[in-house]
Amino acid sequence: MKTISRLFLIAGLVSLSACAPSQKDAGAQSASNSENQVIETIMTRRSIRKYKQQPVEMEKLQQILNCGINAPNGQNKQSWEIRVVTEDYISDLDSLNRSLAIAKGADESKIRHASYGAPVMVFIANDPTYDFSQVDCGLLGANMILTAESLGLGSCCLGGIARTMKQPEAEALLKRLDLPENYNLLYAISFGYPDESPAAKPRKAEKIKFID
Ligand SMILES: Cc1cc2nc3c(=O)[nH]c(=O)nc-3n(C[C@H](O)[C@H](O)[C@H](O)COP(=O)(O)O)c2cc1C
Repeated sequence: MKTISRLFLIAGLVSLSACAPSQKDAGAQSASNSENQVIETIMTRRSIRKYKQQPVEMEKLQQILNCGINAPNGQNKQSWEIRVVTEDYISDLDSLNRSLAIAKGADESKIRHASYGAPVMVFIANDPTYDFSQVDCGLLGANMILTAESLGLGSCCLGGIARTMKQPEAEALLKRLDLPENYNLLYAISFGYPDESPAAKPRKAEKIKFID
């Protein structure tokens, strides 16, 4: 291996080790993570599936949405549509989710709320006519999720809900989102104040390979 490649490899491994999952719960953070707020935010974020009954301040919500639409996106097409829903809509969605689950024979005591009890959900739809639209929408969501984390809010990406919303029983709810006709509801994200501190889920570092 040439000296220059070896140097890059060492630099890469050093930066990867700086990104090892920090143990928020144990309160033990590596010095390098805690010195960099962006890395700290990325590494301490977890999907939150239990929320406090505490509303999200409009100012924080606006910041989350504004950081979302400032994500990089192909040719600056901004090939996304964003719909923010709260109390009434979430309650109607919960009822539908519940009745669909019961119809499928789910144990009623185990059915969870569609937003996991979060007071805000953001639906994200993509433009299927643009081949990078799903990438745009993913980056939009990542920006929103990390902004939420940096503001003390939790979040959870919800892919399953997009499937629910495409069932015939969800037609009226989907219509209320007022999406352009050709747009595809891709996923949602719930936002709220976390009422749990899940541990980091392991990641497969072997999926990363440096190619000579
Ligand atoms: C595209 C996508 C769809 C997801 N859909 C769901 C979902 O429907 N329900 C859920 O509880 N979590 C969902 N998640 C959250 C993942 O389960 C979670 O990100 C993953 O297990 C890693 O855990 P972490 O986010 O705490 O690091 C989804 C995440 C992504 C990126």
